[in-house]
Amino acid sequence: MSTKADTVTKKGYDVEELRAQFPILKELVHGKPLVYFDNAATSQKPRRVIKAESAYYATINANVHRGVHTLSTKATEAQEAARETIRQHINASAVHEIIFTSGTTAGINLAATSLGQLLLKKGDEVVISGMEHHSNIVPWQLACERHGATLKVIPITDSGEWDLKQVPFSDRSRILAISHVSNTLGTINPVKKLIAQAKKKGIVTVVDGAQAAPHLKIDVQDLGCDLYAFSGHKAYGPTGTGVLYGREELLERMPPCQGGGEMIDTVTLEKSTWAKLPFKFEAGTPHIAGIIGLGEAIRWMQDYDLDAMAAHEHTLLEHATKELLTIDGLRIIGTAKEKVGVISFVIEGVHHYDLGTLLDQQGIAVRTGHHCTQPLMDRFGVSGTTRASFACFNTIMEVDAMVAGVKKGVKMLR
Ligand code: ALA
Repeated sequence: MSTKADTVTKKGYDVEELRAQFPILKELVHGKPLVYFDNAATSQKPRRVIKAESAYYATINANVHRGVHTLSTKATEAQEAARETIRQHINASAVHEIIFTSGTTAGINLAATSLGQLLLKKGDEVVISGMEHHSNIVPWQLACERHGATLKVIPITDSGEWDLKQVPFSDRSRILAISHVSNTLGTINPVKKLIAQAKKKGIVTVVDGAQAAPHLKIDVQDLGCDLYAFSGHKAYGPTGTGVLYGREELLERMPPCQGGGEMIDTVTLEKSTWAKLPFKFEAGTPHIAGIIGLGEAIRWMQDYDLDAMAAHEHTLLEHATKELLTIDGLRIIGTAKEKVGVISFVIEGVHHYDLGTLLDQQGIAVRTGHHCTQPLMDRFGVSGTTRASFACFNTIMEVDAMVAGVKKGVKMLR
């Protein structure tokens, strides 16, 4: 689907070379070349990641941290090498600040359960924003219910940004939990600025980085956050993998949420004591193959220029925005100045589900619905949107194919 024209969107950016690394892009869907614009739901995987994961099973499959035998040692080394790769990638100060999880949802649930127990008392407040994914709302609702705390919400402006004039901090605010990038709108939020305000008030800060990890350079020390969660599978890595970064001093104080093997130091029938960080939070056998694949995904991204990838995706976003806006009755939901390559839209007289189905018939994969952000849909007065989310391997030609598909769909559905 791509042409030479795509390769000149950024000097030195060779989209063909990138595309060749993703085996799935050769697949046909309904007899048409696959146009994959659902990267915010899960990204596609380069061959290197697929190979790293299967090489673990084929050559060193064994449990980690449990045996003296050769395979166990090799598996442990490979897993811990991934931890160090991730530490360096997000600029954490110590490798034991990197906790492996099954994804962002698991990371935030860990944070909410443990911080709830550590910090929340009756009458306390947790602050989130009105654009959060359900996985950064519901865990805090559960924690608030458990401890008699209240959830407070930063309102969202018409352009899909936080209304910073109405941040509901009070002397009862204990936790701020916010997304770095909106999965539905693409808005890049001013997290550093809000974290700085929260810190002055002694509020613990948790960032949902699920949609930032594939697009932005993350520096947890520069952001100043206490906890930062992201998923592997949205950043070219395997499903079932994720990371919760935590500032050491806070992690030391946080109680574990899951008990079992690996997370203990000593166990008697009366009482147990906990293992050192990060293992205190890693009960049970981890997704070793996935973690090794995630390490490879990060190394793969580092072999490229993340800024060039982001610039390419921005070119796609600008082109899609301009072309989609030529369609009568089309409204883009989320018009912030700072956005990643995510575009959500509604069209008068056209249901997003019908449009998504027609696009699929043309081989074009988009997401339709509320995108796990029902409160945000309510804020914009819509039941759902059609969302295209771009990755480094997408092309201008593919955007044009989607726009043509949307035009065709509109004609059929109106
Ligand atoms: N959170 C993912 C999305 O936005 C599943 O599609």
